[in-house]
Amino acid sequence: MDKIAQEHLVFFKGLMSERAVDSDGIRLIYSSDETENLSFVPDVVLFPISTEEVAAIMKYCDKHDVVVTPAGARTGLSGGMLPVEGGVVLSTQKLNQILEIDDKNHQVTTQPGVITEVLQKAVKEKGLFYPPDPASKGSCFIGGNVSENSGGPKAVKYGVTSDYVLNLEVVLPNGEVIWTGANVLKNATGYNLTQLFVGSEGTLGIITKIVLKLLPHPTMDKLLLVPFFNAEKACEAVSAIFQAGVIPSGLEFMEKDAIRYTLNCFPELSVPVKENHAAHLLIEVDGFDEEQLMREIERIMEVLENFPIDEILFAESAAQKDQLWSMRRKVGEAVKAYSVYKEEDTVVPRYALPNLLKAVKDIGKKYGFQSVCYGHAGDGNLHVNILKGDLSDEFWENGLPVAISELFQVTVRLGGTISGEHGIGWVQKRYMPIAFNSVQLALMKQIKRVFDPKNKLNPGKIFPD
Ligand code: LAC
Ligand code: ZN
Repeated sequence: MDKIAQEHLVFFKGLMSERAVDSDGIRLIYSSDETENLSFVPDVVLFPISTEEVAAIMKYCDKHDVVVTPAGARTGLSGGMLPVEGGVVLSTQKLNQILEIDDKNHQVTTQPGVITEVLQKAVKEKGLFYPPDPASKGSCFIGGNVSENSGGPKAVKYGVTSDYVLNLEVVLPNGEVIWTGANVLKNATGYNLTQLFVGSEGTLGIITKIVLKLLPHPTMDKLLLVPFFNAEKACEAVSAIFQAGVIPSGLEFMEKDAIRYTLNCFPELSVPVKENHAAHLLIEVDGFDEEQLMREIERIMEVLENFPIDEILFAESAAQKDQLWSMRRKVGEAVKAYSVYKEEDTVVPRYALPNLLKAVKDIGKKYGFQSVCYGHAGDGNLHVNILKGDLSDEFWENGLPVAISELFQVTVRLGGTISGEHGIGWVQKRYMPIAFNSVQLALMKQIKRVFDPKNKLNPGKIFPD
């Protein structure tokens, strides 16, 4: 890539002084996120502190055809923030203020660079609840969650990020600033620009303010860890629980290796699992009423009686719940520490989950790869981590995409799609034609052109080359 022109650097330093950084160290940090081992070094990293500054940057870059890639906390798993064409990385890190918690309307207005868990804790102090809780909630930014439409374990009962976004302030690629909607719970006024930006992976504009809906915070929860002797049966139990009339606030699946790698990687976690446990479900119910929760647990137990399970572990203390959730949240990190891997984020209608798991394992056998499966079973969302292990570089580069295509084709045949919550970004774009036909892709490309006719904002993402 061409290095950014010296005159552009002079402009950015004049605009932002020490918040325009072109040191090797910072450029290297902003060359990667949590996606595989990919790295694209930008020419300069900008840390704006206001919407006005973002607008000035975008106006300048538009006029001078400078490529801009927005970055949040770089916890993404599809390479959405990778500056694949170099140029500017625009970090939202210093746009990190919660602007207003409106407890009369159950809403919060925030800048994008607030850590999701920090936002959750701030609203909880007022008895309010912002449910979407990606595994990286302790480090990811709310702006990144909006841009990727993040989910997490609570999505099964409470929905994903898009279900909470009411209104957005956005700086468009030409530097104009708009609000996308209104701070209201229903809105039938014209096209829904707000939801167009949710999940658009930083390709349509820079989100500078976010208005989110909040709920009353549940006052209690119960957590069970259920060992299964057969992994497909664990997946079958998932839809059976819903069919019995219960909506858990978390229903997570972990196959044996997911737990094994995590417990090996994090010895401070102590969870009793046995060699013959093929998979576990982690099941949480939450609410405001003890008796109601006990009734839900009883109903779940009745369902589970029909499945091949071992002794259920009831979390008895807050510390034990933390251990179990921590184990679940650390699976991705543990697998990454174990081997180079590719992360797939398949999602199917819940009842088809056992078929999806079987397909993953069958395709793994056919092509000779090992996979570690876990994820948000209640949403039909299975994270499939394919391990490189001893596989050749040649297979990893050229053979594996054929296998992944086969897996995605099965996923779509089962009524599902290729990403539930991690996005398409850089690493999944080649598979988009499996999820969408040429008419659908052409419509999406036209939308991109309306907002970014010069293709200078986060180029190279979402659309296949
Ligand atoms: C998780 C991330 C990888 O569920 O989405 O752990
Ligand atoms: Zn997940």
